Amino acid sequence: QLKKKLKKIFKMQVNSNNVTYENGFIQASYQYKSSNVEKLENGTLKVTPKTTEYTFKTNTKVPKLGIMLVGWGGNNGTTFTAGLLANKMKLSWFTKRGEQTANYYGSITQASTIKVGCSGSEEVYLPMNQVLPLVNPDDVVIGGWDISALNLSQAMKRAQVLEYNLIEKLDPYMRDMVPKKAIYYEDFIAANQKTRADNILEGHNKLEHLETIRKDIREFKAANNCDKVIVLWTANTERFCQLTPGVHDTAENVLKAIENSEAEISASTVYAVATILEGCSYINGSPQNTLVPGVIELAKQKDVFIVGDDFKSGQTKIKTSLVDFLVSAGIKPQSIVSYNHLGNNDGKNLSSEKQFKSKELSKKSCVDDITGSNKILYPETNKIDHEIVIKYVPYTGDSKKAMDEYLSEIFLGGQHTLVLYNVCEDSLLAAPIILDLILITELFERIEYKVDGMRTFQRFNRVLSTLGYLCKAPLTDENTPLVNSLYRQKSALDNIFKACAGLHADDNLLLEFKCP
Ligand code: NAI
Repeated sequence: QLKKKLKKIFKMQVNSNNVTYENGFIQASYQYKSSNVEKLENGTLKVTPKTTEYTFKTNTKVPKLGIMLVGWGGNNGTTFTAGLLANKMKLSWFTKRGEQTANYYGSITQASTIKVGCSGSEEVYLPMNQVLPLVNPDDVVIGGWDISALNLSQAMKRAQVLEYNLIEKLDPYMRDMVPKKAIYYEDFIAANQKTRADNILEGHNKLEHLETIRKDIREFKAANNCDKVIVLWTANTERFCQLTPGVHDTAENVLKAIENSEAEISASTVYAVATILEGCSYINGSPQNTLVPGVIELAKQKDVFIVGDDFKSGQTKIKTSLVDFLVSAGIKPQSIVSYNHLGNNDGKNLSSEKQFKSKELSKKSCVDDITGSNKILYPETNKIDHEIVIKYVPYTGDSKKAMDEYLSEIFLGGQHTLVLYNVCEDSLLAAPIILDLILITELFERIEYKVDGMRTFQRFNRVLSTLGYLCKAPLTDENTPLVNSLYRQKSALDNIFKACAGLHADDNLLLEFKCP
């Protein structure tokens, strides 16, 4: 009811010569203002502002979308599926605090707003999913793979994330959802996962595995009448594969390595390659280096999007806003120590050293560009003391605890200590992020751009770094600056939405009030 009402109230039509709404497309021209910087020999910076004309063309026809999750039967996979069903059926259930109704809190596409302008002195905001047309989560079809054969209802109970009364209501709908057989290369995830691996593709022939996954995608798409499919990895964190020249460096070599069943080709790389060969976008929600240079090249050749790495759900989200705040306030963070303990299967997998290393790297690299932006505070090195500890404590279940200590140097040698204690059901944070990653990737598949002088429309860079807001270690193409600052990532994402809809980027100047 409320949803319907909101839809009726909010609707945007941009009143400008720069925007047209024709034949199912929004076409918007946009003046992008940037600056070129030259470093002169005498140390001066010569800065030349420039304006570039872009035209963005967005197909407004929303497709029927199929979502395939690798690790469907895990905590995230089951919570995501349950959450979408609960919302679609508008379920409510009882908890000890009373009646709870389904919502999409934690999802930027469903529960955040973007400022579109001012009405008098009132700033007006629109839900993100009304600035540009997104797939409605009620209309997607979900499937996927898991090394564990439990159906989604059993798996949801094993996960111990949701309230019992909600589980009871969802049970009839999730009982018949059964994960497809998965690729399992023992050596890549922790040995402690072996006991649940009872739903796996036979043999060691990686090319056969690749072909099976490709067939699964095709069959799923056809069986559900989908216009397109997106595949997302939310399976266990793998160890890093050892990048080897001749194996991982080019698209051709990766394909050859799969044919030869090379040992250093991970299960996740086989899923990614299968997905790309089927012309579908692939999203990596874990930290491992699935998207090796050869896979990136393949994605470019096949014109599909890849996104990674590792969902940015809790501790890192705070870290990349807090360090940004400190450094931009002229305060110098000198050390960050992060302790985590959790008791879910993710924690169990990460209790193994090699898999922990993947996570450690992903968690550690997230402030480097922020400290690197300020040469007053960090004239020589921008490396600070940064430690990550993760402990598996089964009793805590999915309720992850994160404790962080930030030590900073302030005015005249003073010391500033900030300590945070963060407790949250991990999968209730991750599931809305999974939804956003998929819906925004799908939208970007429908957007094309033209820039000064280009004859034909192009798609965005196939390495979709704009989704870095949702990733702990954003994957960027070579020669692309890495941005970890949460504020900068969110404003880039909001502004791309606005530019494609025909609105200016928001610079928060509010000059009409400051210079009346
Ligand atoms: P989980 O352990 O509950 O689920 C992973 C599932 O993947 C399991 O059901 C497992 O059987 C399955 N699996 C393992 N290898 C597979 C393979 N090769 N093919 C198909 N299925 C396979 O873990 P959870 O909590 O759902 O997390 C999933 C991933 O997301 C982990 O890598 C985790 O590090 C990452 N992540 C989670 C966040 C969060 O929950 N807040 C945040 C950031 C990342």
